[in-house]
Amino acid sequence: MIETLFSMAGKVCVVTGGSSGLGSYMAQGFLEAGAARVYITARSEQKLEEKAAELSQLAEGECVALAGDLATLKGVEALSAAIHEKEQNIDVLVNNAGIGTGARFDALTAFDWDRTMDLNLRSPLFLTQAFLDLLKNTATAEEPSRVIFISSVAASEVFAHVMAYSTSKNGLEHLTPQLALALADDYILVNTIAPGRFYSEMTRSSWQEPDSESFKAELQRLPAHRYGGPEDIAGVAIMLCSRAGAYFTGEVLNLDGGHRIRR
Ligand SMILES: NC(=O)c1ccc[n+]([C@@H]2O[C@H](COP(=O)([O-])OP(=O)(O)OC[C@H]3O[C@@H](n4cnc5c(N)ncnc54)[C@H](OP(=O)(O)O)[C@@H]3O)[C@@H](O)[C@H]2O)c1
Repeated sequence: MIETLFSMAGKVCVVTGGSSGLGSYMAQGFLEAGAARVYITARSEQKLEEKAAELSQLAEGECVALAGDLATLKGVEALSAAIHEKEQNIDVLVNNAGIGTGARFDALTAFDWDRTMDLNLRSPLFLTQAFLDLLKNTATAEEPSRVIFISSVAASEVFAHVMAYSTSKNGLEHLTPQLALALADDYILVNTIAPGRFYSEMTRSSWQEPDSESFKAELQRLPAHRYGGPEDIAGVAIMLCSRAGAYFTGEVLNLDGGHRIRR
Protein backbone atom coordinates (compact mmCIF):
# COMPACT_ATOMS: atom_id res chain seq x y z
CA MET A 1 0.00 0.00 0.00
CA ILE A 2 2.66 2.53 1.03
CA GLU A 3 4.33 2.41 -2.42
CA THR A 4 1.28 4.00 -4.05
CA LEU A 5 -0.35 5.90 -1.18
CA PHE A 6 1.41 9.19 -1.93
CA SER A 7 2.00 8.60 -5.64
CA MET A 8 0.90 11.15 -8.22
CA ALA A 9 1.85 8.79 -11.07
CA GLY A 10 0.39 9.84 -14.41
CA LYS A 11 -1.53 12.81 -13.03
CA VAL A 12 -2.01 16.05 -14.95
CA CYS A 13 -1.84 19.08 -12.66
CA VAL A 14 -2.24 22.84 -12.95
CA VAL A 15 -0.57 25.08 -10.35
CA THR A 16 -1.24 28.80 -10.68
CA GLY A 17 1.51 31.15 -9.52
CA GLY A 18 4.05 28.37 -10.03
CA SER A 19 7.07 30.48 -10.97
CA SER A 20 8.16 31.07 -7.38
CA GLY A 21 7.42 30.38 -3.74
CA LEU A 22 4.71 27.97 -2.63
CA GLY A 23 3.44 27.26 -6.15
CA SER A 24 6.89 26.19 -7.34
CA TYR A 25 7.38 24.02 -4.22
CA MET A 26 4.07 22.20 -4.88
CA ALA A 27 4.82 21.82 -8.61
CA GLN A 28 8.20 20.29 -7.72
CA GLY A 29 6.56 17.93 -5.22
CA PHE A 30 3.97 16.75 -7.75
CA LEU A 31 6.64 16.05 -10.37
CA GLU A 32 8.87 14.21 -7.91
CA ALA A 33 5.82 12.16 -6.82
CA GLY A 34 5.35 11.01 -10.44
CA ALA A 35 2.97 13.51 -12.09
CA ALA A 36 3.00 13.23 -15.89
CA ARG A 37 2.60 16.95 -16.53
CA VAL A 38 2.43 20.00 -14.31
CA TYR A 39 1.34 23.29 -15.88
CA ILE A 40 2.60 26.35 -14.04
CA THR A 41 1.33 29.88 -14.64
CA ALA A 42 2.42 33.43 -13.75
CA ARG A 43 2.66 36.83 -15.45
CA SER A 44 6.42 37.13 -15.85
CA GLU A 45 7.09 34.83 -18.82
CA GLN A 46 10.86 34.58 -18.59
CA LYS A 47 10.90 33.65 -14.91
CA LEU A 48 8.12 31.14 -15.53
CA GLU A 49 9.94 29.50 -18.46
CA GLU A 50 13.13 29.25 -16.38
CA LYS A 51 11.27 27.61 -13.51
CA ALA A 52 9.53 25.16 -15.86
CA ALA A 53 12.89 24.20 -17.41
CA GLU A 54 14.44 23.77 -13.94
CA LEU A 55 11.57 21.60 -12.64
CA SER A 56 11.45 19.47 -15.81
CA GLN A 57 15.03 18.36 -15.03
CA LEU A 58 14.06 16.93 -11.66
CA ALA A 59 11.82 14.04 -12.68
CA GLU A 60 10.40 12.18 -15.66
CA GLY A 61 7.28 14.32 -15.85
CA GLU A 62 7.19 17.57 -17.77
CA CYS A 63 6.68 21.05 -16.34
CA VAL A 64 4.97 23.35 -18.85
CA ALA A 65 4.88 27.17 -18.59
CA LEU A 66 1.73 29.09 -19.57
CA ALA A 67 2.08 32.82 -18.94
CA GLY A 68 -0.87 35.09 -18.23
CA ASP A 69 -2.55 37.45 -15.77
CA LEU A 70 -5.15 35.71 -13.63
CA ALA A 71 -6.36 38.93 -12.04
CA THR A 72 -8.48 39.47 -15.16
CA LEU A 73 -11.34 37.29 -16.38
CA LYS A 74 -9.72 37.46 -19.82
CA GLY A 75 -6.61 35.89 -18.32
CA VAL A 76 -8.71 33.16 -16.67
CA GLU A 77 -10.38 32.40 -20.02
CA ALA A 78 -7.06 32.41 -21.87
CA LEU A 79 -5.48 29.92 -19.46
CA SER A 80 -8.54 27.69 -19.68
CA ALA A 81 -8.48 27.81 -23.50
CA ALA A 82 -4.74 27.00 -23.61
CA ILE A 83 -5.17 23.94 -21.38
CA HIS A 84 -8.31 22.78 -23.21
CA GLU A 85 -6.20 22.70 -26.38
CA LYS A 86 -3.66 20.39 -24.79
CA GLU A 87 -5.54 18.13 -22.37
CA GLN A 88 -8.64 15.89 -22.29
CA ASN A 89 -8.67 15.92 -18.50
CA ILE A 90 -6.90 17.37 -15.49
CA ASP A 91 -6.61 15.63 -12.15
CA VAL A 92 -5.46 18.50 -9.94
CA LEU A 93 -6.01 22.25 -9.94
CA VAL A 94 -4.11 24.24 -7.32
CA ASN A 95 -5.35 27.82 -7.14
CA ASN A 96 -2.23 29.30 -5.57
CA ALA A 97 -1.53 32.64 -7.32
CA GLY A 98 -2.13 35.45 -4.89
CA ILE A 99 -0.90 38.84 -3.80
CA GLY A 100 -0.35 40.15 -0.32
CA THR A 101 -1.60 43.68 0.00
CA GLY A 102 -1.67 45.86 3.06
CA ALA A 103 -2.46 49.43 4.04
CA ARG A 104 -3.89 51.45 6.89
CA PHE A 105 -7.64 51.79 6.46
CA ASP A 106 -7.42 55.50 5.66
CA ALA A 107 -4.93 54.70 2.88
CA LEU A 108 -6.76 51.67 1.45
CA THR A 109 -7.75 52.32 -2.15
CA ALA A 110 -10.54 50.76 -4.20
CA PHE A 111 -7.87 49.81 -6.73
CA ASP A 112 -5.98 47.73 -4.16
CA TRP A 113 -9.19 46.23 -2.79
CA ASP A 114 -10.29 45.17 -6.29
CA ARG A 115 -6.94 43.75 -7.40
CA THR A 116 -6.70 41.73 -4.18
CA MET A 117 -10.22 40.33 -4.56
CA ASP A 118 -9.83 39.75 -8.30
CA LEU A 119 -6.71 37.63 -7.99
CA ASN A 120 -7.11 36.05 -4.55
CA LEU A 121 -10.86 35.29 -4.55
CA ARG A 122 -12.54 35.69 -7.94
CA SER A 123 -9.92 33.97 -10.07
CA PRO A 124 -9.78 30.69 -8.04
CA LEU A 125 -13.57 30.35 -8.26
CA PHE A 126 -13.93 31.10 -11.95
CA LEU A 127 -10.81 29.17 -12.94
CA THR A 128 -12.32 26.14 -11.21
CA GLN A 129 -15.55 26.74 -13.13
CA ALA A 130 -13.64 27.06 -16.42
CA PHE A 131 -11.91 23.70 -15.79
CA LEU A 132 -15.00 21.82 -14.61
CA ASP A 133 -15.34 19.64 -17.72
CA LEU A 134 -11.66 18.67 -17.60
CA LEU A 135 -11.82 17.95 -13.86
CA LYS A 136 -14.96 15.82 -14.31
CA ASN A 137 -13.79 13.80 -17.32
CA THR A 138 -12.04 10.89 -15.65
CA ALA A 139 -13.01 11.47 -12.01
CA THR A 140 -14.62 8.59 -10.09
CA ALA A 141 -15.48 7.91 -6.46
CA GLU A 142 -12.28 5.85 -6.18
CA GLU A 143 -10.11 8.36 -8.06
CA PRO A 144 -11.61 11.80 -7.56
CA SER A 145 -10.14 14.97 -9.04
CA ARG A 146 -8.84 17.62 -6.64
CA VAL A 147 -9.18 21.36 -6.33
CA ILE A 148 -6.95 23.08 -3.78
CA PHE A 149 -7.21 26.69 -2.65
CA ILE A 150 -4.36 28.44 -0.86
CA SER A 151 -5.60 30.62 1.97
CA SER A 152 -3.49 32.04 4.81
CA VAL A 153 -3.41 32.32 8.58
CA ALA A 154 -4.44 35.91 7.84
CA ALA A 155 -7.93 34.59 7.00
CA SER A 156 -8.67 34.03 10.65
CA GLU A 157 -6.67 36.90 12.12
CA VAL A 158 -7.72 40.44 12.83
CA PHE A 159 -5.02 42.80 11.60
CA ALA A 160 -6.48 46.11 10.49
CA HIS A 161 -3.64 46.75 8.02
CA VAL A 162 -4.25 43.63 5.91
CA MET A 163 -8.02 44.06 5.59
CA ALA A 164 -8.32 43.29 1.87
CA TYR A 165 -5.90 40.34 1.93
CA SER A 166 -7.44 38.82 5.04
CA THR A 167 -11.00 39.23 3.71
CA SER A 168 -10.07 37.64 0.37
CA LYS A 169 -8.55 34.60 2.12
CA ASN A 170 -11.45 34.33 4.55
CA GLY A 171 -13.76 34.28 1.51
CA LEU A 172 -11.78 31.34 0.07
CA GLU A 173 -12.19 29.42 3.30
CA HIS A 174 -15.93 30.10 3.30
CA LEU A 175 -16.16 28.96 -0.32
CA THR A 176 -14.38 25.68 0.39
CA PRO A 177 -17.24 23.61 1.88
CA GLN A 178 -19.77 25.28 -0.43
CA LEU A 179 -17.83 24.30 -3.53
CA ALA A 180 -17.02 20.87 -2.09
CA LEU A 181 -20.76 20.23 -1.79
CA ALA A 182 -21.51 21.66 -5.23
CA LEU A 183 -18.91 19.38 -6.87
CA ALA A 184 -19.35 16.24 -4.76
CA ASP A 185 -21.52 14.44 -7.33
CA ASP A 186 -18.88 15.13 -9.98
CA TYR A 187 -16.25 13.34 -7.85
CA ILE A 188 -14.22 16.52 -7.35
CA LEU A 189 -12.78 17.10 -3.88
CA VAL A 190 -12.23 20.69 -2.77
CA ASN A 191 -9.89 21.55 0.09
CA THR A 192 -7.88 24.53 1.28
CA ILE A 193 -4.41 24.82 2.75
CA ALA A 194 -3.96 27.83 5.06
CA PRO A 195 -0.21 28.43 5.38
CA GLY A 196 1.50 30.39 8.12
CA ARG A 197 4.90 31.98 7.50
CA PHE A 198 6.81 30.46 4.57
CA TYR A 199 9.97 31.48 2.72
CA SER A 200 8.89 33.09 -0.57
CA GLU A 201 9.07 36.36 -2.48
CA MET A 202 5.95 37.54 -0.63
CA THR A 203 7.71 37.36 2.74
CA ARG A 204 11.22 38.27 1.53
CA SER A 205 11.35 41.54 3.47
CA SER A 206 10.89 39.60 6.73
CA TRP A 207 13.59 36.94 6.21
CA GLN A 208 16.16 38.47 3.89
CA GLU A 209 18.22 39.54 6.85
CA PRO A 210 18.17 36.31 8.84
CA ASP A 211 20.38 37.74 11.59
CA SER A 212 18.13 40.74 12.21
CA GLU A 213 16.62 41.10 15.66
CA SER A 214 13.10 41.29 14.20
CA PHE A 215 13.44 37.99 12.31
CA LYS A 216 14.99 36.22 15.29
CA ALA A 217 12.17 37.51 17.49
CA GLU A 218 9.58 36.27 15.02
CA LEU A 219 11.11 32.79 14.96
CA GLN A 220 11.15 32.82 18.72
CA ARG A 221 7.41 33.61 18.80
CA LEU A 222 6.49 30.87 16.33
CA PRO A 223 5.86 27.53 18.10
CA ALA A 224 7.74 25.72 15.27
CA HIS A 225 10.64 28.23 15.65
CA ARG A 226 11.14 28.31 11.88
CA TYR A 227 9.50 29.40 8.66
CA GLY A 228 7.90 26.77 6.43
CA GLY A 229 9.87 25.52 3.44
CA PRO A 230 9.30 23.54 0.24
CA GLU A 231 8.88 20.14 1.92
CA ASP A 232 6.24 21.45 4.32
CA ILE A 233 3.80 22.62 1.65
CA ALA A 234 4.72 19.99 -0.96
CA GLY A 235 4.12 17.22 1.58
CA VAL A 236 0.61 18.41 2.42
CA ALA A 237 -0.29 19.15 -1.21
CA ILE A 238 0.88 15.67 -2.30
CA MET A 239 -1.10 14.10 0.54
CA LEU A 240 -4.27 15.97 -0.47
CA CYS A 241 -3.87 15.14 -4.18
CA SER A 242 -2.82 11.48 -3.93
CA ARG A 243 -4.70 8.42 -2.68
CA ALA A 244 -3.64 9.36 0.84
CA GLY A 245 -5.98 12.37 0.93
CA ALA A 246 -8.89 10.97 -1.10
CA TYR A 247 -11.33 11.10 1.84
CA PHE A 248 -10.90 14.82 2.58
CA THR A 249 -13.33 17.32 1.13
CA GLY A 250 -14.53 20.73 2.26
CA GLU A 251 -11.64 21.05 4.73
CA VAL A 252 -9.29 23.88 5.62
CA LEU A 253 -5.93 22.50 6.72
CA ASN A 254 -3.90 24.95 8.77
CA LEU A 255 -0.22 24.57 7.91
CA ASP A 256 1.33 27.17 10.15
CA GLY A 257 3.85 25.68 12.57
CA GLY A 258 1.46 26.52 15.38
CA HIS A 259 1.10 30.21 14.46
CA ARG A 260 -2.62 30.23 15.43
CA ILE A 261 -2.06 28.84 18.89
CA ARG A 262 0.39 31.58 19.89
CA ARG A 263 -0.73 35.04 18.85
N1 LIG B 1 4.61 32.98 1.79
C1 LIG B 1 3.81 32.91 2.83
O1 LIG B 1 4.26 33.00 3.99
C2 LIG B 1 2.33 32.72 2.62
C3 LIG B 1 1.54 32.58 3.76
C4 LIG B 1 0.18 32.39 3.62
C5 LIG B 1 -0.37 32.31 2.35
N2 LIG B 1 0.40 32.46 1.25
C6 LIG B 1 -0.24 32.36 -0.07
O2 LIG B 1 0.51 31.50 -0.90
C7 LIG B 1 0.28 31.84 -2.27
C8 LIG B 1 1.63 31.95 -2.98
O3 LIG B 1 2.35 33.03 -2.40
P1 LIG B 1 3.94 33.04 -2.27
O4 LIG B 1 4.25 33.38 -0.89
O5 LIG B 1 4.51 31.80 -2.86
O6 LIG B 1 4.26 34.33 -3.16
P2 LIG B 1 5.25 34.59 -4.38
O7 LIG B 1 6.56 33.93 -4.18
O8 LIG B 1 5.18 36.06 -4.56
O9 LIG B 1 4.54 33.87 -5.62
C9 LIG B 1 3.36 34.36 -6.18
C10 LIG B 1 3.14 33.70 -7.52
O10 LIG B 1 1.92 34.17 -8.07
C11 LIG B 1 2.18 34.76 -9.34
N3 LIG B 1 1.23 35.87 -9.57
C12 LIG B 1 1.14 37.03 -8.87
N4 LIG B 1 0.20 37.81 -9.42
C13 LIG B 1 -0.33 37.12 -10.47
C14 LIG B 1 -1.34 37.40 -11.42
N5 LIG B 1 -2.00 38.58 -11.43
N6 LIG B 1 -1.64 36.46 -12.35
C15 LIG B 1 -0.97 35.28 -12.37
N7 LIG B 1 -0.01 34.96 -11.49
C16 LIG B 1 0.31 35.88 -10.55
C17 LIG B 1 3.63 35.23 -9.26
O11 LIG B 1 4.25 35.40 -10.53
P3 LIG B 1 4.18 36.82 -11.33
O12 LIG B 1 4.45 37.89 -10.33
O13 LIG B 1 5.21 36.70 -12.41
O14 LIG B 1 2.79 36.90 -11.91
C18 LIG B 1 4.23 34.04 -8.53
O15 LIG B 1 4.41 32.94 -9.40
C19 LIG B 1 -0.52 33.15 -2.26
O16 LIG B 1 -1.89 32.88 -2.50
C20 LIG B 1 -0.31 33.66 -0.83
O17 LIG B 1 -1.38 34.48 -0.41
C21 LIG B 1 1.76 32.68 1.36
